[in-house]
Amino acid sequence: MADKASLTIGDRNFECDILSGSAGPDVIDIRKLYGQAGVFTYDPGFTSTAACQSAITYIDGDEGVLLHRGYPIDQLAEQSTFMEVAYLLLNGDLPKQDELEKFTYTITRHTMLHEQLSTFYRGFRRDAHPMAIMCGVVGALSAFYHDSTDITDPKQRMIASHRLIAKMPTIAAMAYKYSIGQPFVYPQNDLSYTGNFLRMTFGVPAEPYEVDPVIENAMRRIFILHADHEQNASTSTVRLASSSGANPFACIAAGIACLWGPAHGGANEAALNMLREIGRPERIPEYIARAKDKEDPFRLMGFGHRVYKNYDPRAKVMQKTAEEVLDRLGISDPVLDTARELEQIALKDDYFIEKKLYPNVDFYSGVILSAIGFPTDMFTALFALARTVGWVAQWNEMISDPDQKIGRPRQLYTGPTQRDYVPVDQR
Ligand code: CMC
Repeated sequence: MADKASLTIGDRNFECDILSGSAGPDVIDIRKLYGQAGVFTYDPGFTSTAACQSAITYIDGDEGVLLHRGYPIDQLAEQSTFMEVAYLLLNGDLPKQDELEKFTYTITRHTMLHEQLSTFYRGFRRDAHPMAIMCGVVGALSAFYHDSTDITDPKQRMIASHRLIAKMPTIAAMAYKYSIGQPFVYPQNDLSYTGNFLRMTFGVPAEPYEVDPVIENAMRRIFILHADHEQNASTSTVRLASSSGANPFACIAAGIACLWGPAHGGANEAALNMLREIGRPERIPEYIARAKDKEDPFRLMGFGHRVYKNYDPRAKVMQKTAEEVLDRLGISDPVLDTARELEQIALKDDYFIEKKLYPNVDFYSGVILSAIGFPTDMFTALFALARTVGWVAQWNEMISDPDQKIGRPRQLYTGPTQRDYVPVDQR
């Protein structure tokens, strides 16, 4: 490809550099365009705009490929641990044995919350959504860990990153315990990251909790599959919030708020609610018809993706995990039958084929999480827990990037032009 792109506006011609990454489409560098040509570019939803450089995650949406630091997601989901993937995303390479041990030790030693934070929970109503609690408590961490909020100090940035990765399972488990009126369970350091989370969620102080290895493995996969996903809405929110120099805890709270929406992380909760509403395979055609009807706002939740125009590689691992977990627990859930059947019908339907709508990561995750025993409103909190790793990796990358500037999009103004103020009695 040429190394310059030219733009003609009337009789004026402008040239922009074309930049190439290590994979994916080239980008046209328009940074000087406004200064030279006096025009902005218009791209609501960033459908054609690269907002940053990143070396963390690569997605080929047409081929259904997802790589973290070059490693395919299915290999990581099958062979790696969440601690390894967290190290990989943060540091760029898979850890050697001693590096992994040191990293795991560090994360494990940061899992407790400042005791005073537990009083925050009592300020929430019992029926508070866990994501509301997560937004509040994670933002409040800024008030407790002053020694890791100076973002110009790489050491403090790393301590804040470790704290966030370590404390998120404790915060999410406490949100659940509070909602069901059970005592908080403190972390136990000899368990794995996921095993510890399961114990803090489902264990009680009155008796020992045994971690089921099949469930632990399913959670490991789920956490790995959600760990990062390039410049999605919540990651871009974290980047935009931190571009002003805000502290990391506040920025991650902003990411959690964005993730909550049903078009993003909230889709796992919405997908299971939809599958339950459909209830049985015979009702699927009615819902497929609704999804295709332009007059009906209904969409098949867990279907479609801004980037994937092929099967989401994470959905494949999720489907397999759903079968394994239900088999292990001896559950025969009609929701899984409905999901399988819905997928088959949609994949053969012209509307879904033409628009390249395939199941995404959220289509099967709800079936698994529900079988394990999580209530639907915890699903997005689990997504936030796992995505924290990606958020902090992207945040660190952004702060260290010399090209980083405060994020400040421009606009196409369509409001009134200047007019004079009219006193209220003359309007
Ligand atoms: N059901 C029915 N029609 C759909 C769906 C769907 N799930 N998704 C997209 N479409 C149609 C949409 O109506 C539009 O049709 P038309 O061109 O005729 O107007 C076309 O497909 C393109 O959709 P879009 O909304 O312009 O695409 P987008 O890239 O802005 O949205 C999306 C992507 C994920 C928000 C959307 O597919 C969606 O709402 N899916 C359901 C929610 C969901 O499962 N979200 C989880 C995403 S994966 C997890 C994550 O990364 O957070």
